[in-house]
Amino acid sequence: MCGIVGYVGPRGSQEVLLGGLGRLEYRGYDSAGVAIISDELETRKRAGKLQTLRDELVANPLDDGHTGIGHTRWATHGAPNDVNAHPHLGDNGKLALIHNGIIENFAEIKAELVADGVEFVSETDSEVAAHLVGREYRRTGNLTEAMKASVARFDGAFTLLIVHEESPGVVVGARRNSPLVIGLGKGENFLGSDVAAFVEYTSDALAIGQDQIVTITPDSVSVIDFDGNAVTPEPFTVTWDASAADKGGWSSFMAKEISEEPAAVADTLRGRVKDGVVEIPGFEPADFADVDRIIVVACGTAAYAGLVGKYAIEKWARIPVDVELSHEFRYREPVISDRTLIVSVSQSGETMDTLMAVKYAREIGARTLSICNTQGATIPRESDAVIYTHAGPEVAVASTKAFVAQITALYLLGIAIAQANGKGDARILSAAVHDLEAAPALLDTVLRHGEHIRTLAKWMADTQAVLILGRHVGFPIALEGALKLKELAYIHAEGFAAGELKHGPIALIEPGQVVFVIVPSPRDPNSLHSKVVNNIQEIRARGARVIAIAEQGDAAVLPYADEVIPIPLASSFIEPILAVVPLHMFAMELAAAKGLDVDQPRNLAKSVTVE
Ligand code: G6P
Repeated sequence: MCGIVGYVGPRGSQEVLLGGLGRLEYRGYDSAGVAIISDELETRKRAGKLQTLRDELVANPLDDGHTGIGHTRWATHGAPNDVNAHPHLGDNGKLALIHNGIIENFAEIKAELVADGVEFVSETDSEVAAHLVGREYRRTGNLTEAMKASVARFDGAFTLLIVHEESPGVVVGARRNSPLVIGLGKGENFLGSDVAAFVEYTSDALAIGQDQIVTITPDSVSVIDFDGNAVTPEPFTVTWDASAADKGGWSSFMAKEISEEPAAVADTLRGRVKDGVVEIPGFEPADFADVDRIIVVACGTAAYAGLVGKYAIEKWARIPVDVELSHEFRYREPVISDRTLIVSVSQSGETMDTLMAVKYAREIGARTLSICNTQGATIPRESDAVIYTHAGPEVAVASTKAFVAQITALYLLGIAIAQANGKGDARILSAAVHDLEAAPALLDTVLRHGEHIRTLAKWMADTQAVLILGRHVGFPIALEGALKLKELAYIHAEGFAAGELKHGPIALIEPGQVVFVIVPSPRDPNSLHSKVVNNIQEIRARGARVIAIAEQGDAAVLPYADEVIPIPLASSFIEPILAVVPLHMFAMELAAAKGLDVDQPRNLAKSVTVE
């Protein structure tokens, strides 16, 4: 939520900032702006996507310089217009500031500044920070000191970057609860909301901790905490290169990322299974062998991955698992003990609701483990342990490949804990490991149905509502499929547990209603297959148009389905990973058929760093 980039070095800042903003645009695209110091400080900012800023810079160029900051916004305070776009100015236009987060006590500081004669032009909380830091700069004559004095006044969540005309070659940043990482170059340095901001130039990075201030020049990086004590930031290496964050010839990032779902599973497994035993470097299952309860906290797609994980972990490790939306968890005084493990699942590792849930869990004495896709992110840093998913950078706002990687990581966790606590059945566990290793090749075959799904989506371009039914691990997949349709195609879509149909949702069925049904395998040991086929008959009898996602060769479904999207034979825990891919593809194709932007859906941001 809001992307931030800062640069000092010999290159022209404009290109570095626009390149970084392009890769951070998934964080927000309500407006964009840059501030660059040449002889003097100049800013350009425009409402709308980054392209409008690019156009503005062509129509109204600025003098390029070697120090600059750039911002792409997801609006919180104030409408997404040119005036509210960042950067904001302080110290009579000599200081520029960009901000990600919310300064909760801005009104009180604003009143003080207004009484001091400061005139505000925007409706943002961020402009308050610009004027306060500007005032502190006039008092201290030092940008780092000005930042330190200012952040002491702010409540809330923020990443701030500032530059000042009188201090060319210096960018100062500060963070509390919002993300900021340092990119280390040779004779140049970078700051960014995440490594995508600078991955084109360097893969050497430093993670900045909570409540810290960083000052970069071309040749130096220094970090202090909010009290002024020196801090040694933690180094890490970015494991993907800039090309991984490019479209690479695909029509959209989403199309590319769906095509990478098999690789996301394979890469999350890679090097973590040895002779049938799960061994995750840096993760010690014995530390969790005494866990007697797991609560998964997550939001959106990540929460649905958690729900799939619940079915598997309970079966394999015989530990009760609850899945909670992060923002509900921390406000209801959950009952936990020191044997409770809180597993956060987050692609970005920055979702504020999940971060706050993790912090709360630690405060009340639980152990915390993060499943995360982003190195250097805040949530894994705030957790006792981490299992990274290796889905690679996910740029499209709605999550796809990260979802299957999250399920994979949760499965690895379940198997690892089961192997450590001795409650798992060795035969079942070894079959689970084997099935997981076979999953990427099966996923490849599902991707071959792209053309069929595109045709279906075109045929359904005017559809206003879609229902999705699933059972057991197919239930969270129904929820995920419906979420994707809301996010991308802006239609009303609901996922239901198929067994719940008769308890209410069947009232929604009228002639022509499109219903996707995720059909369990006919080989399912719980005989859920026949129950779901019965459900199909019930809705068909009431006029529904049924699109079944069913195992290849499932003859029982054929007479009752209008369309069948076949998935290969797989064990019941691999089925959800396979069944979700057609739903991801369908949501994308339906949005495309409606002429919508599949990568940047309206009103959304990929990384929601406000509560
Ligand atoms: C936002 C995104 C969703 C995502 C959710 C959780 O709402 O639009 O696509 O699933 O955040 O994000 P996380 O980074 O924590 O997985």
